[in-house]
Amino acid sequence: MEIQVKLTDKLNALLATYQIHYQNLRALHWNVKGANFFELHLKYEELYTRTQIIIDDLAERILTLESTPLHKFQDYLTVSAIKENETIFNGNSGIEYILSVQKTLILLEKEILKISDELNDDGTNAMMSDLIREKEKTNWMFTAWLNKK
Ligand SMILES: [Fe+2]
Repeated sequence: MEIQVKLTDKLNALLATYQIHYQNLRALHWNVKGANFFELHLKYEELYTRTQIIIDDLAERILTLESTPLHKFQDYLTVSAIKENETIFNGNSGIEYILSVQKTLILLEKEILKISDELNDDGTNAMMSDLIREKEKTNWMFTAWLNKK
């Protein structure tokens, strides 16, 4: 496969994964119950709002690379690296989910980074680096929140 096509295919898979994650975050925001309700309801909103911006940036990066972003949910479900969640009420389970998905997203972004590096595609490279660094930082926070060693 031509390497440029491989890059935009992987960007589309990343876009799809963020789209499913976005919907999972909306569900966490709606369904959270318990003593941490106010804290987590807001945190989930902050995360899905940020995710929405990432989704748009990724789609427009794919267009910038002269390819076409996926937009159908059936395509997202096919190529996403994660699945739609069942309803999660528990705060700890919600944060555990986010920590786990963010690790998956970082792996996908590192794969893309390798290819964009090979292509000397500095724009995609910088975008992936920023996304990785951002999630590495919030993963530290989620781990601290969960009080895991
Ligand atoms: Fe809301």
